[in-house]
Amino acid sequence: MKNLVVYYSRSGNTETIAQEISKEVNGDIKKIELIKDISFAGAAFKALLGLKGKIKSIDFNVKNYDNIFIGSPVWASKSSIPINTFLSNVDFTDKNVFVFITQADDKTPYPVYESVAERVESKGGKVIDSYFIQTDMKSPLTSTQAARHISDWINKNRTYL
Ligand SMILES: Cc1cc2nc3c(=O)[nH]c(=O)nc-3n(C[C@H](O)[C@H](O)[C@H](O)COP(=O)(O)O)c2cc1C
Repeated sequence: MKNLVVYYSRSGNTETIAQEISKEVNGDIKKIELIKDISFAGAAFKALLGLKGKIKSIDFNVKNYDNIFIGSPVWASKSSIPINTFLSNVDFTDKNVFVFITQADDKTPYPVYESVAERVESKGGKVIDSYFIQTDMKSPLTSTQAARHISDWINKNRTYL
């Protein structure tokens, strides 16, 4: 199976998780990048409204993969705006999708899972599983912590990978 890990990260936490997932699943890893950096307030405001962000062009095709891991931080209880753009631009037909979310809160972000799943499924994909990692805005996640967080989740989904 070919695995791809796609993520956006503003302050590094989702990136650290994405790197550990890509090692665990032996997958390619691709970062979604905004054309222009965004302030905290701008990010929160635009995410709250469900807006998209202008992202750099992507140099990969999800068609070449079986499983797509999509990672986003939570902004204002919603998915981040670069991931909104990615979700609206990509065709997920026949892809298995795994969603990973980082956030400061300890409560499962079901509304974020649901809104991402709706968008993936409207583009023909199937969300197999979703997972979140609680982070600390003052102290970035380390790779050791990230590896510990994701290992059970990846092992639970091993049959797909
Ligand atoms: C603009 C903004 C809004 C945020 N809103 C929330 C929120 O509503 N709920 C929450 O639990 N965390 C919130 N956070 C915290 C981030 O989700 C958390 O720090 C995440 O791990 C950041 O990921 P990153 O380091 O990959 O950018 C917010 C962070 C930012 C920058």
